[in-house]
Amino acid sequence: MPTHNIASIPGDGIGPEVMKEAIKVLRAVEAIHGDLHFTIDSYDWNCKRYLETGRMMPEDGIQTLAPYDAILFGAVGSPEVPDHISVWELILPIRREFQQYINLRPIKLLKGIESPLTNKGVDDIDFVVVRENTEGEYSNSGGRLHIGTPYEVVVQNSVFTRMGSERVIKYAYELARKRGSKELSVATKSNAINFSMPFWDEVVKEIGADYNEIDAGFYHIDALVAFFVSKPEIFNVVVGSNLFGDILTDLGAAISGGLGITPSGNINPEKNYPSMFEAIHGSAPDIANQGIANPIAQIWSASLMLEHLGYPELAKKVVNGIEAALVEGEVRTPDLGGTASTAEFADKIIEEIQKEA
Ligand code: NAI
Ligand code: MG
Repeated sequence: MPTHNIASIPGDGIGPEVMKEAIKVLRAVEAIHGDLHFTIDSYDWNCKRYLETGRMMPEDGIQTLAPYDAILFGAVGSPEVPDHISVWELILPIRREFQQYINLRPIKLLKGIESPLTNKGVDDIDFVVVRENTEGEYSNSGGRLHIGTPYEVVVQNSVFTRMGSERVIKYAYELARKRGSKELSVATKSNAINFSMPFWDEVVKEIGADYNEIDAGFYHIDALVAFFVSKPEIFNVVVGSNLFGDILTDLGAAISGGLGITPSGNINPEKNYPSMFEAIHGSAPDIANQGIANPIAQIWSASLMLEHLGYPELAKKVVNGIEAALVEGEVRTPDLGGTASTAEFADKIIEEIQKEA
């Protein structure tokens, strides 16, 4: 029986609440497949642990995670711990150490969800954003001098390496080919950011020479965000640097149903290290412990994990189950206008996944 070892890091706030439901879905998927097993080990690396021990994860945390096939991550963050600690001491080390250089976010309006863009439906909003996840504008390079004086100097560098740019752009072209797209849409700003962005565009053209059937569509980031709103139907695969991708994916989440829905994958394409799958939302302290968080984003993230592990048909069944539950519409969490609890909504989704099978 194929067995996959999964590390689960539920985290804080609603993280554990939605993780519990995503794991229930994985158990249902095992039963449907009949010959598949997930070993799921849970790690309590979160802000509570930080307050007790001074560390978000143990010193050998990365070594502990390394042998796993994948990591399912909930959300971290607590009002008692500065956000830069919870992010920089847990999520970012995992992304960096495991060379998860692709941040993948499907922007797909599910059936049964209304987009805030009036007149845009499920056929109009269905694309994927590929965000560079290890360098660029978020490279921790720079400095601050003469602090507090009139001579104060602040420098924040963007770092673009050839290898870092090539590998994310190649991944995006491959994805465009897989999705049968005629265009790879590229976020740039080479008119104003005059070193890194012309370089980025050049790499797109170089890599693109191996993908004759796909045109590179260059969009300045300011125009691109406007097109996400005015004509999202023109996009299939969009690639962007770390900062541009970050902004694009939050906007993408907003037009496709919001934080309770949108999943993500932090991918190491070579599979030399585990990849990590997580809802893009945070720990939502405002609704934590009430049992009302929307579990879809975490369940959909588990579906991305299934796809990564080599089960695209099971991944599809999960998304179809989510859509079927949404279309039926009666059982929903409050963020989608319903009154159901997290568990009730997840159970409804599981029921629909089982019907699909
Ligand atoms: P957030 O995503 O936690 O919440 C923003 C708003 O969306 C809140 O009103 C919340 O109730 C709502 N929301 C989020 N997820 C939902 C769900 N599944 N169902 C229903 N409603 C949902 O972002 P916020 O409030 O800015 O951050 C809270 C904490 O989470 C902070 O400590 C922050 O640093 C952390 N955070 C962690 C992330 C991660 O673990 N990857 C990502 C983003 C924020
Ligand atoms: Mg973000």
